[in-house]
Amino acid sequence: MLQVKNLSVSYRGNYALREINFNLEPGQLVGIFGPNGAGKSTMIKAMLDLIPATSGVVTFKGNPLKQKLDKVAYVAQRSQIDWDYPIKVKNVVMMARTIPTGLFRYPSRQSQELVKMALKRVEIWDLRNRQIGELSGGQQQRVFLARTLAQQAEIFFFDEPFVGVDRKTENIIFEIFHELQEQGKIVMVVSHDLGESIKNYTDILLLNQKIITFGHREEVLNQRNLDIAYENHILPEV
Ligand SMILES: Nc1ncnc2c1ncn2[C@@H]1O[C@H](COP(=O)(O)OP(=O)(O)OP(=O)(O)O)[C@@H](O)[C@H]1O
Ligand SMILES: [Mg+2]
Repeated sequence: MLQVKNLSVSYRGNYALREINFNLEPGQLVGIFGPNGAGKSTMIKAMLDLIPATSGVVTFKGNPLKQKLDKVAYVAQRSQIDWDYPIKVKNVVMMARTIPTGLFRYPSRQSQELVKMALKRVEIWDLRNRQIGELSGGQQQRVFLARTLAQQAEIFFFDEPFVGVDRKTENIIFEIFHELQEQGKIVMVVSHDLGESIKNYTDILLLNQKIITFGHREEVLNQRNLDIAYENHILPEV
């Protein structure tokens, strides 16, 4: 359903991503892992056409994904968001409804309901009138999660959503990922947490410029693959 074919990206002549190929079907919850600089964020941005690819195509139901971006929800890595931008929490979430609403039109009753449901789902309805910059890191992360829910997308990308969030927020985020999965959405999540929480993913994609391995979690997650992805070479004995 979602197909990535031969996707490569280079920055000023240096490859960040080489010939990425994979297919995803509805209901897959994919954890994307790899060391810093492996190209995880680059892969997502290239899939969304936010940066140019050197080669490759990404299709959704047979059409270029870049023509279907209304079906895609994306939360960027925290470091790439401007937290001083003066905007209220409820309006950050309402941004998800810009395409269905039209840029300068008043949001429909349905859009307002969707925003309300999303804010309640992530348990920050009480904070709706605060400025985004006045929220804690974990609360901000919930706002962006709510925005993706209000968008009613089919494909979801989250780039390191668990950075700086406590266990309660992490649990809420995973609960929502599972709900999306049950609704037959495709969910891709970049993470560095190789601990217990990895059991939440149906599939794992290990990346280090190229795909080291991709498949069902139980089948591909082993020490050998992790060593290759993270370049852990066994030290010679002294
Ligand atoms: N705009 C850019 N211009 C030049 N090089 C870039 C740019 N963005 C990323 N890179 C380089 O491309 C490589 C992949 O970066 P990317 O941000 O995709 O890694 P990542 O896997 O998301 O890492 P992290 O875990 O640190 O977020 C790195 O070597 C990085 O320095
Ligand atoms: Mg990154």
